[in-house]
Order: sequence, then C-alpha cells, then structure tokens
Amino acid sequence: MNPVSLFDLEKMAKQVMPHNSWEFVDASSSDEITKRRNRTAFDEITINPNFLIDVGNRDLSVSILGEKIDFPIMIAPAGGQRSIHPDGEQATARAAGSAGTLYALATSSGYSIEEVAEVATGPLWFQLYHFNDMVSELLVTRAKAAGFKAICLTIDTPVASPKERDIRADVTRNPDLFWGSLRDRPDLAALREVGIPDMADWSPPGYTGLTWDRLGWLKDLTGLPLVIKGVRTVGDAIQAAEYGADAIVVSNHGGRQLDGTKSSIETLPGIAGAVGDRLEVYLDSGIRRGLDVLKAIALGARAVMMGRPLYWGLAVNGEAGVRTALDILRIEFDRAMAYCGRTSVADIDRHLVSLPNEA
Ligand SMILES: Cc1cc2nc3c(=O)[nH]c(=O)nc-3n(C[C@H](O)[C@H](O)[C@H](O)COP(=O)(O)O)c2cc1C
Repeated sequence: MNPVSLFDLEKMAKQVMPHNSWEFVDASSSDEITKRRNRTAFDEITINPNFLIDVGNRDLSVSILGEKIDFPIMIAPAGGQRSIHPDGEQATARAAGSAGTLYALATSSGYSIEEVAEVATGPLWFQLYHFNDMVSELLVTRAKAAGFKAICLTIDTPVASPKERDIRADVTRNPDLFWGSLRDRPDLAALREVGIPDMADWSPPGYTGLTWDRLGWLKDLTGLPLVIKGVRTVGDAIQAAEYGADAIVVSNHGGRQLDGTKSSIETLPGIAGAVGDRLEVYLDSGIRRGLDVLKAIALGARAVMMGRPLYWGLAVNGEAGVRTALDILRIEFDRAMAYCGRTSVADIDRHLVSLPNEA
C-alpha cells in the first residue's frame, strides 16, 4: 500500500516497528494531554478561502536565516534514528536534501556530525542539548567545521522526561545508536550512559548551567545563527529576542516534555505578535497535514518542522520513506495554497484562518 496521508504512513510504521521502538517514538509525557491537544487545536482552526484568483504558478519557497528552501517544511531534530533504521540520520539528511529542505541533526544522533555532513546535500542545523560548557563547545565547533548553518539550542529539557510507556516497556537504549558524535570520545562515556539527556542528573565537577545571560557565550563559540527551540510563552520569546537569538521554534517537543501546556499552535499568534520582525519564528508539534502548515503560517510562522513522521518514513522505507513523508506534506500544502487563492507563502495572511472563538 502507498500511503495517501501521513496517517496512513503512521499505521504502516506501527505494523512494522518493534513494540519498544514504536513506544519510543509515539510516547509523550505523563497523561499525554499536550500531545492530543497538538492535534485537536489544529482541527479547531477553520479556513476562509478566496476563489477566482489565478493560482496557476505557485512558489512554495521561503528563506530561512538567509538559506532558500523549496517549501516551508523542515525536519525537526530528533534523536536515535539509527535505532529505527540502520541508515538513520544519514537517510534523513539525504531525504531532506533531495526534497529541497533543511534538516536539524540532534545531539543524540546515531551517526556523527561529520558522517551526516558527508552525505547531506541540503542545509543542516545542529541541535544542541547543553550538558556542560566543554561538551557544548566541542559539539558546536565541530558542527561549524562540518558546514552546519545554525545552532539550534533546545531549552525545554531542564530535566529528563521519562515516558511512562518507555518505563513500562522497560526500554533500554544502545548508546551507540544515540551518541554517534561521541563515539570517538571514551573519556565522555559517562555522558553516553545517560541515554536520555538529563542535564540535572549529569553534573560532573565544572558543570555550568546555561541561562539566558549566557546565550552570548554560546553564540560567540561559532558565530553561527542561534535558534532557540522549545518556546511556549511570550515571555521566553521576548527573552530570546533580547538575548540575541536569531530565531525561535514555538514547540512543546511533540508533548514529550512538560505535559499540560497549550498546543504550539495555540501559543503561536501571541508569540509571533509579540516578537514581530525581531527574529524568525517557526513552529512544530502536531504538524500532520498541509493544511496545518498553512494554518501555522497564517498565524505567524515562517515555516514548520515535522517530528514523528520522519521516524514513520524511516521505519517503513528508510530514506525513500522520509522523502515520502515530506512529499505528502508538500503536495498537500501546495494544494491548500491553491484552494486559498495564494501563489506565494508571503501571501498567506491572518485573514485566511479563524480561531475557534472568531466568527
Ligand atoms: C522520538 C523523538 C525524539 C526526539 N528527540 C529530540 C531531540 O533529541 N532534540 C530535540 O530538540 N527534540 C527532539 N524531539 C522533538 C522534535 O524535535 C519535535 O519538537 C517534535 O517531534 C514535534 O512534534 P511532532 O512529533 O508532533 O511533529 C524528538 C521527538 C521524537 C518523537
């Protein structure tokens, strides 16, 4: 069967994935309320299309921190992809490049920074979990040397969030499938053993936490643009702008960290309105349809990221499967633009959508 939608791909992935792998990808934290809300909130937003407009030529491209991508859907950083398919992050990077979009490599990748850079044909970002200054410096300077275009600091994981499903399934992780970039650093084995990033538990002597006032330090290590991922509030978005970030990802980590927060799409309009043009705003968490992409852009995002669908693609068919996931979203988004009488992403404006409380 060829997947017609990402929901088909999800079903196909569930059939082929070992139980524990499925639980690792699908799970979110505590009661999984935020994960469900990520979907219901999209469903409650309605579209106000305009017709009798010539939509014969549509341009889906956008510029992201100065890099042009062919459509406004990027691949979110997500760890341990080698535990789902042997080609792991290399397959995902190839798929992103051939589709014409950007891939954010996670700190906890099975292939190393350099191994992914070698095969990538599109722009790469490096996602950073900060454990201590030494490890962050090591990783971001390697990413810069390998040609990565930005550092994406994930801020919404001050402690690990063990998923209850993982605990029940007694999931154990093979560090080699999660810590490719530290494979050649036996001196950092203690970090590899953490398995799930946990900054609070891994506190060796010399540990220095990262706070807003130290973003300048992080940025100066490479001079690359800094993207802050995991913003849920207007306050944190303004802090990111004040402390020199170049972009933010409005994200609740697909509901995988703190449960009980709003969905990303609910928080987006307030955040985008508050930061204006001071930095670029992207969104993830719950993107499954081209219409979701359109809704996010109408409400203030420049582009979106997809998370779990990349694993579904990997599980079903490696690189080609990830490409399928991207193609499905791109084709749906293109059709959504045409239906709405829009020929470029910049034309997608706020009038195009109504929130549940709006007429
Ligand atoms: C299995 C899995 C692992 C993830 N690992 C990371 C990670 O290492 N770093 C990170 O910033 N986000 C990570 N994420 C979160 C994604 O970047 C993204 O925010 C989320 O998946 C988006 O929601 P969606 O899955 O509903 O599309 C992970 C997500 C999943 C599903």
